[in-house]
Amino acid sequence: MKASSKEEEEKVEFEEGEIEYVSYGGEHHLPLIMNLVDQELSEPYSIFTYRYFVYLWPQLSFLAFHKGKCVGTVVCKMGEHRNTYRGYIAMLVVIKPYRGRGIATELVTRSIKMMMESGCEEVTLEAEVTNKGALALYGRLGFIRAKRLFHYYLNGVDAFRLKLLFPRQEVHIEASHGNNDLDST
Ligand SMILES: CC(C)(COP(=O)(O)OP(=O)(O)OC[C@H]1O[C@@H](n2cnc3c(N)ncnc32)[C@H](O)[C@@H]1OP(=O)(O)O)[C@@H](O)C(=O)NCCC(=O)NCCS
Repeated sequence: MKASSKEEEEKVEFEEGEIEYVSYGGEHHLPLIMNLVDQELSEPYSIFTYRYFVYLWPQLSFLAFHKGKCVGTVVCKMGEHRNTYRGYIAMLVVIKPYRGRGIATELVTRSIKMMMESGCEEVTLEAEVTNKGALALYGRLGFIRAKRLFHYYLNGVDAFRLKLLFPRQEVHIEASHGNNDLDST
């Protein structure tokens, strides 16, 4: 059910340091994630979809808590793609009273960092073309619009496929003394 009452949407006063970020820690986190995503994303997901992500890549999903209440979550995966590894952000939600304070940015940044450390060279996701908030957030993080996917969602809305490319490690090619020695013989 959508969180639509005025009370639920009212901003909550909090210090940034009061938000605790944790990576997926087991089955007790699953209903918290499902509850948030079901409330806020248009696309319906079955419990098997949630389990697929959090069982296989628990280290890539994060939850944000304020005083014991789950206020945000990000769910991701990674896998091989054209001889490289690619991360994928499947779901991202922050509940209304906590928006606009950098919680989603922190959640996504943590997932992206884990993907990078695990060898990914890029990260992708889809967002509704009408989702100005998400498009602005990902744009700020450096994602580019790679493709438009027509009628991508069950509600008929188009999606942008967004992509973040990590800078490749620089390869330093230097002539070694050994090679010079060989050349001179
Ligand atoms: C999108 C969403 C996750 C953003 O969460 P958030 O915690 O408010 O995001 P942040 O505070 O980290 O925002 C970071 C930046 O993103 C942009 N942004 C976020 N929400 C925005 C909005 N509604 N309008 C315009 N820009 C927005 C801004 O540039 C913002 O920086 P600023 O506050 O300095 O201007 C949240 O609005 C949400 O849960 N929406 C419903 C679910 C959803 O659409 N998920 C994304 C699916 S792809």
